[in-house]
Amino acid sequence: MNDKEIKREIGKKAVDDLVKNGMKLGLGTGSTAIEAIRRVGEKIKSGELKDIRVVPTSMQTEMECRSCNIPLWSLNDPDIKGKLDLTIDGADEVDPQMYLIKGGGGALLLEKIVAFFSKRYAIIVDSTKMVKTLGLTKPVPVEIIPSALYPVSQAVEELGASIMIRMGKQQAGPVITRHGNIILDIRFSGSFDPVEMEKKLKLIPGVVENGIFTIKVTDLFIGYEDGWVDYKNG
Ligand code: A5P
Repeated sequence: MNDKEIKREIGKKAVDDLVKNGMKLGLGTGSTAIEAIRRVGEKIKSGELKDIRVVPTSMQTEMECRSCNIPLWSLNDPDIKGKLDLTIDGADEVDPQMYLIKGGGGALLLEKIVAFFSKRYAIIVDSTKMVKTLGLTKPVPVEIIPSALYPVSQAVEELGASIMIRMGKQQAGPVITRHGNIILDIRFSGSFDPVEMEKKLKLIPGVVENGIFTIKVTDLFIGYEDGWVDYKNG
């Protein structure tokens, strides 16, 4: 199977196994999450799923939901009351403890908020995302306030990381997030304790959020080249 077909299988299985009528559902960002969005759209259209209230995690998710005719809510809607039954999202890396790196698509802030306020948190990835140690191949994205770029960079370097400012493509200068911030992609020279590092980064004033997710993953779906989707309970 090619990449897209593998992602379709993962998204389909996660939605078929976990999404039930009446759910308040968070939907993630990225090419794997898009396949889950499309599956939700198909099932709403066919009448298999009813009364689903979806909260999107990015502009990409919103646009995909709209093109699938999935109605949208926000965490602040009285109908949602700030609590979701389930969120389904992709990830950039997953380690054996189901800790994650996320934010390759720049949506880490809303993704972490939506994950935190969900009863169940399902991650959908292909097998290439599974790693023994986080951060050895992918950088950790850190969303920061632009006016704190210099001091935050210094503080992050003091934690032992090197920094790249994420630059726009077909846009001069850095990527600006939907919340008006910029993203540092940071790399450590070796392994780090995800729980400790997530907290240390979070404690630097000027850091809005970081892409280390140690929130409990309750359901992990891993897709393989032959179309098999493995399931692990968190
Ligand atoms: C978005 O900011 C990320 O957290 C995505 O969840 C992540 O980049 C996964 O995207 P793909 O499914 O496209 O690899």
